[in-house]
Amino acid sequence: MSMNIAIDGPAGAGKSTIAKMLAKQLGFIYVDTGAMYRAMAYNFLSRGIDTADEEAIAAACTDVDVTIAYENGEQQVLLNGENVNGVIRTEEVGNTASAVSAYSAVRAKLVKLQKQLAAKSDVIMDGRDIGSCVLPEAQVKIYLTASTAVRAKRRYDELTAKGISCDLMQIERDIEARDERDMHREISPLVQAEDAVLIDSSELSINEVVQEIYQICQRHAGGHAEGREK
Ligand code: DC
Repeated sequence: MSMNIAIDGPAGAGKSTIAKMLAKQLGFIYVDTGAMYRAMAYNFLSRGIDTADEEAIAAACTDVDVTIAYENGEQQVLLNGENVNGVIRTEEVGNTASAVSAYSAVRAKLVKLQKQLAAKSDVIMDGRDIGSCVLPEAQVKIYLTASTAVRAKRRYDELTAKGISCDLMQIERDIEARDERDMHREISPLVQAEDAVLIDSSELSINEVVQEIYQICQRHAGGHAEGREK
C-alpha cells in the first residue's frame, strides 16, 4: 500500500513550498492539486466561458483533459496535452480556479485523477480537501495555516521578486475573498480534517515547518515498525 501525506490549508500558507521540500526529503512524489484547478480555470478563461454559468462549465468539462507529468522532479500540468505550467500562476487564474472549483463537475474530474495518483505511488499531496475528501485514509494529515496578514505579505514578496508590481492591501482583500469562497462552498469546502495536525506557520520559518512535518512522518513510520515487531 502506498503512503499518503495530505497537506491542506488556505492560499499562501506555504503548502507547495513545504510539500516540495518534504517530497524531496522523503523521496515521495509531490502532487499540487491547486495547479490542476488552475489548468481547468485557464482553459475556461481562454475559451471565454462565463465562469458564473455552472451549466456551461459542466458542459465545457467534457472536452478538457488535465493530466500531470514530471520533468526533473517538477510537476508539469498538461492541459489537452499542452504544458501550461508557465501560464497558470497569475492572480486571475487563481481567483477563477477558486470560483470554478465550487462546481461538482470540475471537482469530480480532478478528484478521480488525484485518487488514482495516490493509489499507485507514495505521494505528498496538497490542496483544500485532500485530508477530508480525496485521501481520507492518508496516514499523515496536516492543516497548514498562517494569519491573513502574513499570507498576504508572502504573496506580495513573491510577486515583487518576480518584478510584478502589486498592492499589498489588494492582495490581502483577494486572500480574504478566496478564503471565504474556499471555506464556505457547498462541496468539499476547506476544513481541517478531524485527524489532521494543525500547524500555524505565521511565526515559523519554512525549514521549521518542514522539520515539524518530517518528524510527524517519522513518528508515524516508527509507530508502524514498532507495531510490526510486537
Ligand atoms: O492552491 P492554489 O492557490 O493553487 O489553488 C487554486 C484554487 O483551487 C483554490 O483557491 C481553490 C481550488 N482548489 C480546490 O478547490 N481544491 C484543491 N484540492 C486545490 C485547490
